[in-house]
Amino acid sequence: MSERDVALKEEKQRAREQWAQDPCGEFYGREYEFGTREFFDRVERHRYEEYAPWMPEVMGFNDFKGARLLEIGCGMGTDLLQFARGGAKVTGADLTPRSVEISRARFRLYEMPGEFVITDGERLPFADKSFDVVYSNGVLHHTPGTDVAVAEAHRVLKPGGTAKVMLYHRNSLAYWGELFFRRGILGGELLRGRSMQEVMSKWVEISNADARPLVKVYSQREARTLFRMFREVKTEVEQITRPELRLFKNIPESLFLRLRRTLGWNVIITARK
Ligand SMILES: C[S@@+](CC[C@H](N)C(=O)[O-])C[C@H]1O[C@@H](n2cnc3c(N)ncnc32)[C@H](O)[C@@H]1O
Repeated sequence: MSERDVALKEEKQRAREQWAQDPCGEFYGREYEFGTREFFDRVERHRYEEYAPWMPEVMGFNDFKGARLLEIGCGMGTDLLQFARGGAKVTGADLTPRSVEISRARFRLYEMPGEFVITDGERLPFADKSFDVVYSNGVLHHTPGTDVAVAEAHRVLKPGGTAKVMLYHRNSLAYWGELFFRRGILGGELLRGRSMQEVMSKWVEISNADARPLVKVYSQREARTLFRMFREVKTEVEQITRPELRLFKNIPESLFLRLRRTLGWNVIITARK
């Protein structure tokens, strides 16, 4: 095994341990017993009512009835459950055994059908052209070979199939305002010699266990380049909450929406094979 392969293997193991300690969204259900209906319902309410009310429509939870849908990095299965409720035949894949275990238990609790696989998105154990939809939310910017994972998504999609992927947005208020200016400059992180990569790793994911994941950001143009092997590629920007605007949090809704759709923290790529 080459030095690079060893480093990659270690990076993946670190990711597995970190995501096992910090299943994405767990923090927001913390007032309830983990794994109960109350807990999962609270996690959903936080995501779709408080944090990202745009998600059901933009991600198209009800648009894939009857389609075979694979989610790469399903975490606790929060979005996957919405696609299943919308009638998609879902498969959840995740690098972290604990994520798969939680998703499986959650689907059982809600009596929804779904298949689950522990696997690296950079090496999917599926035949070519086996899915109508590949979805991934907030995952591929955490894996070293983002381009390799995109190529895998392309490979397992049927011709005409859709990839829907959310990556973090470089040209955003979160990146320049919160991470660069507030943490990097005012907080002194950059002045102490830390890189933006290190600043993001420390401050991006909210966690109980002081997580330090790999985090990358993409402009819309970089995201389109990443998906250039697809026939059609569209990008949209979303994700700001009013509290992030601090003194300006009470701006009119129309201005808020415009900001969210230009300087938001998420780039959503919709690509057709
Ligand atoms: C930030 S969480 C997002 C989870 C979920 N998509 C959501 O929106 O709640 C990242 C998840 O991606 C998984 N992950 C990270 N790298 C991965 C990879 N290379 N292949 C598959 N899953 C991966 C982690 O185990 C973790 O569950």
